[in-house]
Amino acid sequence: MVILLKGNLGTTSHHQSLTMALRLVFLVVAAVALARGEKNLLEEATRLGATTVIDLLKSVGLDKSLETDYLTLFLPTNEAFAALPDDLSKTLAGNQSLLQGVLLFHATKGIFRAQDAVEDMLINTELPGSQIRVNTYDDANNAVYITLNGAKVVQANVVCSNGIIHIIDRVMLPPLGNFYDLVSRSEAHKTLKSMIDGLGFKQLLETTPGTLFAPTDTAFTELFADLAAAGIQSDPTGLPARETVLYHLLPKVLYSAGAKNGTYTTMDKGESLMVSMAADGMSAMINLANVVVPDVPATNGVLHIIDRVLTPKAYRLPMATTVVG
Ligand SMILES: *[C@@H]1O[C@H](CO)[C@@H](O)[C@H](O)[C@H]1NC(C)=O
Ligand SMILES: *[C@@H]1O[C@H](CO)[C@@H](O)[C@H](O)[C@H]1NC(C)=O
Repeated sequence: MVILLKGNLGTTSHHQSLTMALRLVFLVVAAVALARGEKNLLEEATRLGATTVIDLLKSVGLDKSLETDYLTLFLPTNEAFAALPDDLSKTLAGNQSLLQGVLLFHATKGIFRAQDAVEDMLINTELPGSQIRVNTYDDANNAVYITLNGAKVVQANVVCSNGIIHIIDRVMLPPLGNFYDLVSRSEAHKTLKSMIDGLGFKQLLETTPGTLFAPTDTAFTELFADLAAAGIQSDPTGLPARETVLYHLLPKVLYSAGAKNGTYTTMDKGESLMVSMAADGMSAMINLANVVVPDVPATNGVLHIIDRVLTPKAYRLPMATTVVG
């Protein structure tokens, strides 16, 4: 910096340029001190009105760490907690270790700023072994926004004396496994599971990052009935099954907070499917299937449960129009 100043100032004396350089250094230090923020994380969270999360932190004795540790805090709004399904709220309220885990999942050591976000990066959290997935999307006006495990950052970079806060519009839940784990544990996805096993797709579902649309058993029963009615034999391990399963996978990790009306490329030879979001953003359709449970977090992406099997174009033709999914 001194060299740069000297070069720029040409004729000024050594003493003058040194004074200028020192003044500049002072200004930079002052700016950094200001940017540190006066309040600690707990005081700032209080000022921001995040009363629910503060009460919960106090109930499990985690509030003190917001005064002493150097953290980035992902702070769900009170509305985000109020929007949790009743049974989940009750489970959390009745299980201290579970609640503690969910809260620890909302913090990471050190500073993560919004401008550090890179598509699909993973952030280690204070909950050992659990990571937050970061995604970036653009809105209708091409402005970029960030989601953290599908929760939208509504206010970024609130600087505190011992860290930084990002306000998010949902409570984040730690993923309970990869796609294969989730499908295997589900009571409603036995057909999908057996197809995945039959096709040798276990590893693909365990490791590939992306989005899985998971049709329920009822959806498959209806498809097979329609196929039988149309006189078509269904072969759950044959080529159509292979393409059909791949048609339910997107290489892109697409949370509902990031989805827009339009087509998205699948893993079935790049064939695309159509996403339609309701105007209020409260429901979505994938081709003709309804999303019945959106945004189930997985370690390798996000899973959405749908009520109808999605059929690749090539297999729609022989079927009755009612089968087209
Ligand atoms: C609380 O949750 C943990 C973790 O999910 C679980 O292992 C434990 O059995 C639960 N405890 C009670 C009392 O339900
Ligand atoms: C998406 O398209 C549907 C049907 O064309 C329309 O009703 C809906 O308002 C659109 N959603 C958004 C978010 O623009």
